[in-house]
Amino acid sequence: MSKICLLTCDAGKSGETLHDYPELPGLVYAVPYVKLPHTWGFVMERDDTKEVIGYILGATDTRAFEKAASETWWPLLALKYPVEGENKIVGKPADGRYAKLISNMNAIEQECIDFSPAHLHINILEGYQGKGWGRRLIGRAIEYLRDEVGLDGVFLGVDMRNTDAMMFYERLEFRRWSGAPEHSFGLKFSDWRS
Ligand SMILES: CC(C)(COP(=O)(O)OP(=O)(O)OC[C@H]1O[C@@H](n2cnc3c(N)ncnc32)[C@H](O)[C@@H]1OP(=O)(O)O)[C@@H](O)C(=O)NCCC(=O)NCCS
Repeated sequence: MSKICLLTCDAGKSGETLHDYPELPGLVYAVPYVKLPHTWGFVMERDDTKEVIGYILGATDTRAFEKAASETWWPLLALKYPVEGENKIVGKPADGRYAKLISNMNAIEQECIDFSPAHLHINILEGYQGKGWGRRLIGRAIEYLRDEVGLDGVFLGVDMRNTDAMMFYERLEFRRWSGAPEHSFGLKFSDWRS
């Protein structure tokens, strides 16, 4: 999952050449959802090789997830990737940006939490994009969040350079609701047409 995150982390494109610490995108956007409470996720694997080729994951309760991460996840990473002092990490600019983010993680805007407590991230390897798998992964996530958790919607944040992802979300009826931060999209499950 961390590898898939790296290969799609630069507004949907590979971030491999941007990092001397290639694990950083996954440590921020994928691994916490495996390690921390208040999270959910599904991976997509090939039938024949069992290779994992995509995933969708998130938090069912974003504020509770943020609290757990701020207590147990970001402090450990901040020790490993310090932004100042004699052990300060020396890497590429993107490594520095991730290290700064880890040392000072922003809280999600309240407008998003008001829309839904749940958020998601979805990432599929390039060779498997554009074949309907993204729609199916979103459908599986909705089944889980609606039918098993009892929620009525989900939100996500998107890099404003990632126009392909925005077209995808819009096609699936995700919307910028009234009062939404510019980079946020949300879906009410009543609008979902599988
Ligand atoms: C964004 C992503 C999850 C979409 O998944 P996908 O499998 O490529 O998309 P699908 O093939 O399931 O497309 C679903 C629908 O969206 C439409 N769509 C997808 N990308 C589109 C685009 N760039 N422009 C217009 N429509 C698009 C498809 O035509 C399809 O419509 P239909 O089902 O009504 O026929 C996937 O491409 C991906 O992982 N990209 C890299 C990582 C990334 O950018 N993640 C999002 C970060 S916010």
